Amino acid sequence: MPILEVKQLTKIFGQDARKGLTLLQQGWSKEKIAREAKLTVGVNQADFHIKEGEIFVIMGLSGSGKSTLVRLLNRLIDPTAGQILFRGQDIVKMNAEELRQFRRKNIGMVFQKFGLFPHRTVLGNAEYGLEVQGVDKKKRRELAQQALELVGLGGWENHRPDQLSGGMQQRVGLARGLANDPDILLMDEAFSALDPLIRKDMQQELLELQSRVKKTIIFITHDLDEALRIGDRIALMKDGVIVQIGTPEEILIQPANKYVERFVEDVDLSKVLTAAHVMKQPEMIRPERGPRVALQLMRDSGVSSLYVADKEMKLLGVITADDAAWALKEQKTISDVLRTEIPSASPDTLLNELFELMAESPLPVAVVDERERLKGIVIKGAVLSALAGNAVPEGGDI
Ligand SMILES: Nc1ncnc2c1ncn2[C@@H]1O[C@H](COP(=O)(O)OP(=O)(O)OP(=O)(O)O)[C@@H](O)[C@H]1O
Ligand SMILES: [Mg+2]
Repeated sequence: MPILEVKQLTKIFGQDARKGLTLLQQGWSKEKIAREAKLTVGVNQADFHIKEGEIFVIMGLSGSGKSTLVRLLNRLIDPTAGQILFRGQDIVKMNAEELRQFRRKNIGMVFQKFGLFPHRTVLGNAEYGLEVQGVDKKKRRELAQQALELVGLGGWENHRPDQLSGGMQQRVGLARGLANDPDILLMDEAFSALDPLIRKDMQQELLELQSRVKKTIIFITHDLDEALRIGDRIALMKDGVIVQIGTPEEILIQPANKYVERFVEDVDLSKVLTAAHVMKQPEMIRPERGPRVALQLMRDSGVSSLYVADKEMKLLGVITADDAAWALKEQKTISDVLRTEIPSASPDTLLNELFELMAESPLPVAVVDERERLKGIVIKGAVLSALAGNAVPEGGDI
C-alpha cells in the first residue's frame, strides 16, 4: 500500500471556492477563473500516490502550486475537494484530535527560510515542534538531541542560530522536522536559500540520511538539477495541475508535453542518465553447458560472444565464437577459454563515466551489482541513442 494516496485534491482560494470547483470541472483554465470569477486555483485535481520510503519531488515554477499542495498534505490549509489517504485513512476527514495525533506521530516539516528563532538555542529550536505538541520537557530534549546528532550537529546544542553557517542553520531546521521521528518529512524549498556548493552538500547529506533513516520525503523545489539529483520520482506542476509524474529518466526521455520538454531541454543527459537506464539483456550461458552449446546459442541469437555467469548470476567472463570453436576442437571447456578482462560498471554509473570505459575496450560494458551479479550490458549505440534524447527500447537490438 502506498504511504500516501492523493485523489482529485483541489484547493481554490477566495470567496465561494466551491463555485470554482464547478468551473474547473467545466474545463475553465486557472487564468479564466481568476479573471471572471475572481478565484485563485492553488491546486487543480491532483492525483498521485507516494510510496513508502521514496523521495518524491514536487517541482514547478513560482506560483505553480507546490507550497499549496504540500500544505494540504498536513492540512496547514484545508482542501476545497479531494482525499488524502495516509495508509488508507483520509486526513481530510480527521477531527481536530485525530489531526493533532497525525501531525505529532506521522509528519514533520522543514521550511524554506529555516524558520529558526534567533533567541532560542539550537536545542531550543530543534525541540520547538515537540513543545507545540505538548511533549514534556525531558522527553522533547532527548528527542531533539537525537535529531541533532542525526544531522551532525551534536555539540552545538547551546549555540544560537546566528553563530551557525547557513548550511548548519538548515540542519537545525531539518533536525526540528525529524525530532518527532515522523514517517513523512515535508520539505518546502528547504535548500533554496543556501549557496550552491553548500546546497549540493546538503543534497548529498539528505540522500545519506534518507538511506539511514528510511523516511518518506516529499521535497519541493523549483530547481531541476536538484530534483533530478535527489528525486526517486518527480511531479512537475503548472498552474496548479500536475502535468507529469515520473522517474527523472522518464521526465527527461519521455516528456509528456511541450511544457515539460521546454523545462528539461537544457539538461545534460550524460550527467543524469545511468547504466541501468540504457542497459539491455545480454545473451548468457553457464560454463558447464560447454562450447558446443555456446556456439549453437550464438548462431541462434545472431551474436558473436556470450556472457558467462554462474548459477547465482555472478559474472565470470565472456566467450567469443572463435574461442568456443577452438575449445570445441581442442576439447577444452568454456572456463579454459573464458575472457575475464571485461569492462564493468555499477547500475548507477553515469553515462559520461561509461564513455571513458567504452573508449578503452571494444567489448560492451557489463553492468554488475555490488555482489558482481550481471544485471545487463551497455552497448555504445544505446548510450548515443539515449544522449540524443531517444527512448531506449527494453532489450532492443542496437
Ligand atoms: N493564502 C492564499 N490566498 C490566495 N491565494 C493564494 C494563497 N496561497 C497561495 N495562493 C495562490 O495559489 C497559487 C499557488 O501558490 P503557491 O504558493 O502554492 O505556489 P508555489 O509553487 O509554492 O510558488 P513559489 O515557488 O513561489 O513558492 C498562486 O497563484 C498563489 O498566488
Ligand atoms: Mg512555494
